[in-house]
Amino acid sequence: SLIYLNGEFQPAESARISPFDRAFLFGEGIYEVCIVVNGCFVDMDSHLARLDRSLAACGMAPPPERPQLEQVINDLARRNGVTDGLAYLQVTPGATPRAFTAVPQERLTLFILTQAQDILSAPHLSRGITVQVQPDIRWLHRDIKTVMLLPQVMAKRSALANGFNDTIFVDEQGVTEGSSSNIFIVTDTGTLVTRPLSNHLLAGCTRQRIITLAREAGMTVEERVITRDELSRAPEVFATSATYMVVPITRIDDHVVGDGRIGKVTKRLQDAYVAFIR
Ligand code: PDD
Repeated sequence: SLIYLNGEFQPAESARISPFDRAFLFGEGIYEVCIVVNGCFVDMDSHLARLDRSLAACGMAPPPERPQLEQVINDLARRNGVTDGLAYLQVTPGATPRAFTAVPQERLTLFILTQAQDILSAPHLSRGITVQVQPDIRWLHRDIKTVMLLPQVMAKRSALANGFNDTIFVDEQGVTEGSSSNIFIVTDTGTLVTRPLSNHLLAGCTRQRIITLAREAGMTVEERVITRDELSRAPEVFATSATYMVVPITRIDDHVVGDGRIGKVTKRLQDAYVAFIR
């Protein structure tokens, strides 16, 4: 399949990135993941707006293709025949000598790949996932979508090793987010609760879309911290992300959430989201 790298559509097999690329040496890179369903990308404008914010937050320039970026991503998907799946996009400052503060002299790196995936028929959408809870050991700029993902990789590997599908992170206050998703609970009274935006979590595009869809459906949404206690008592818990969409969480550590199946409110929001993206 083709990738897009530094201004060119090219075969993935022969594409090359410098070993001096600052993302390789320093983890200095920003990424986005956006899904495509029936040939249409979902909330692409929010993802590109977040890309701009992440780049600005770490002092990186936007790629020269920024004005046509949506077009480039769509072209790549079309050339690869990907109508259902995802696009992954990464921007780095490019190559410099191995010196912390070296200033890039050449073109920055813009890399885009597309991947076919049957997003709408993932079994976890109806069956749900199990999660373990772990302390959030990440840094305090989780609002920046950086490729510095070692803590997330470790959390996901440890979840699998412990017999779970994924990990939810908590800090001293309560739930921050999932290892690559945002977390919502539904209270006994049917109110949706999710953590307010701050440097402690990523501003999920799916999170925002779900809040909007829930409010449009007349539901009450509270943006406040979910304590650990609330998390374990909630009748419904779900995770949102581009690739998860809306996924029910059916077990948290050793306790079953609700009756262990997708909850009514979660199902309603999942249906609303699927209707929105179709
Ligand atoms: N991750 N929080 C974290 C830490 C994430 O990595 C992600 C997405 C989200 C959800 O954001 P959105 O709804 O915009 O996808 C929240 C992507 C899917 C990934 O790393 O593959």
